[in-house]
Order: sequence, then C-alpha cells, then structure tokens
Amino acid sequence: MDIKSTETEIQQQNNSNLEKIAILGCGYVGTAASSYWYKQGYSVTVTTTRQERVAELENIATKVVVMKGQDSQAVKSLLQDRDTVVLSIAPISNKQVDAEVYRETYIPTAKNLVAALQENKSVKQLIYLSSVSVYGNKNGEWVDEASPVDTESEYNQVLCEAEQLLLNSASEDVQVTILRLGGIYGAQRALIKRFGRLAGKNIDGSGETFTSWIHLDDVIAAMDYLSQRRLGGIYNLVNDFDMTIRELSDEICQLGNLEKIIWDDTKPSYRSLNARISNEKIKAAGYKLIHPQTIS
Ligand SMILES: NC(=O)c1ccc[n+]([C@@H]2O[C@H](COP(=O)([O-])OP(=O)(O)OC[C@H]3O[C@@H](n4cnc5c(N)ncnc54)[C@H](OP(=O)(O)O)[C@@H]3O)[C@@H](O)[C@H]2O)c1
Repeated sequence: MDIKSTETEIQQQNNSNLEKIAILGCGYVGTAASSYWYKQGYSVTVTTTRQERVAELENIATKVVVMKGQDSQAVKSLLQDRDTVVLSIAPISNKQVDAEVYRETYIPTAKNLVAALQENKSVKQLIYLSSVSVYGNKNGEWVDEASPVDTESEYNQVLCEAEQLLLNSASEDVQVTILRLGGIYGAQRALIKRFGRLAGKNIDGSGETFTSWIHLDDVIAAMDYLSQRRLGGIYNLVNDFDMTIRELSDEICQLGNLEKIIWDDTKPSYRSLNARISNEKIKAAGYKLIHPQTIS
C-alpha cells in the first residue's frame, strides 16, 4: 500500500470535512474571526464594502468578496456551499450614526439573508452578532435572555427587528444563534485608550449605570464553541465583571495614572443601557470564558 498517497487522501478527506464559513462584515471582529478559522485550515469567505481592503483581507481569508449586505444576489452567492454564516456588520462611520443609517445597514441585509437561506441547502448555522444594548435601561437590574428588550430607542428597535427576522428563519436544518455582546475590547481596542481620551473631562450622568464587556478572544472562541456544537438561540456574551461605568473608569484611570473622569450628575446619562447582564446561559451550555474579568 502507498502510505504517502493514503495519508494525502485522509488529509483531503479531513479538509473537505472542515467547516466552510462566510463572514459578512469583516471589521474588528470579522477580521479576527477569519484569521482564527483560516489558521485552523477552514475555508473562509469574507466580505468588504471597499475594494481597497481586498489585499489586506486576502492574508487572512480563503476568498474576499466586495459586496454590501443590501445586494440580494451577492448574499445568495456568498452562502453557496457554506456551512456557517456569521453576520458581523456595523454602520460604517467614525462617529455616532443616526437610527435611519442603522436601519439601512441591518434590515435589508437581514432580509436578504433570510431569503437566501430559503433557497440554500448547505448552511447549517447562522450566527448574528447583536448587542446587550437591546435590554436598554432596566435601572441596574439583572437581565437574562428571556428579559424584555427595550422598545424605546430607535437603535434598539432596529437591532431587535434584525434579531427577530433572523430567528424566524431557524428550522430543523438551520440553527440561528444570536450573540448579544457587551462592549468589545482587546488588541487595538484597549480600554485604557478609550477611557484615556475621557480622563479629566466632564461626562453627562452620574456614572452609576452598569456596564458590560467582552474580550475579542472570547467573541471568537464562543462563536467557535457554539458553531462546533450547532447551538442555536439567544446567548448573552459578557464577562463576569459587575461594575458601574464610574467604578470601571476610576480603576482604569488609576491604573494608567490618569485623571479621573468627572461625572456630571446634574445631567441625564449619556448611556441608554443600565442593566446587569447574566452570562449564565452560555456558561450552562459549557462555554468557559477566557477572560472572565475586564481588569485582571
Ligand atoms: N464593537 C463593539 O463594542 C460591539 C458591541 C456590541 C455588539 N457589536 C456587534 O458586533 C459586530 C461586529 O462589530 P465590529 O466592532 O467588528 O464592527 P466594525 O469593526 O465596525 O466592522 C463592521 C464591518 O461591517 C461592514 N459593513 C458595514 N456596512 C455594511 C453593509 N451594508 N454590507 C456589508 N458590510 C457592511 C464594514 O465593512 P468594510 O469595512 O469592509 O467596508 C465593517 O468592516 C457588529 O454586528 C456589532 O453590532 C459590537
């Protein structure tokens, strides 16, 4: 028997069994996720809206497609032969965008994915990266995945509508997983940088609102964990950290030898989210956080 050719055959069989993933929206999270899966030998197709990003993305993906989620035909083609699809888009802007831009980004893309899934036979799981901001202001109370979402903020209305559209497309053959993420920090997005910009400045609100965070490594690892087990449904993904934004910013400014932020409690908070987010469900599913604490 030719051992070498048998080994090659086994290798090819293994490769053909490996996941075929599409990542729609390749920014901070999408790029890190693609890089991780590509290194595992998976076939990863990623998207960008900008031709000038293609060369950079070709280093961390099998294939790069220039497209927008609003292009129904492009979404259909993207899903062809893929096992897992990750939706990781956010409006393109350096500043806060209005709710209409939010809507134009998320809703047509979600609808196109739903339509594409109806015709597609390969996709087994769709993972949508949503946000814990959907819980809104719960006056600092604990919330879990069954808690009501905020219906006041137009931004949250858009995120929840996108979640619902996608969840409704779940079937026996296709798991739909909604990951509600805390603020993401990690490489290139260190908290010291974020809070450093605000050190010594006046910020609206008392700072007594609860805040939740998740490390980029955990976002990638949790997606990998849930996709390997084909687990669908809604999961909060935040770390074990339980502090107000004032407590966190004080600690970080102290660690960085920076002036504290000056919270102005005569003004309403600049943050609409004030809830303590339970991460029990994803832990009960067996996921173990890599970075349980924001400050370690
Ligand atoms: N960052 C956070 O703290 C945070 C917190 C909670 C939830 N999330 C969620 O996590 C996900 C990923 O966040 P991120 O920080 O990685 O975002 P990001 O760095 O801003 O990347 C978003 C990507 O979306 C792509 N995009 C924008 N509009 C698009 C459209 N119409 N069609 C297709 N692609 C489009 C952009 O592509 P190009 O750049 O290639 O043009 C961009 O790279 C988002 O769904 C976000 O809502 C993030």
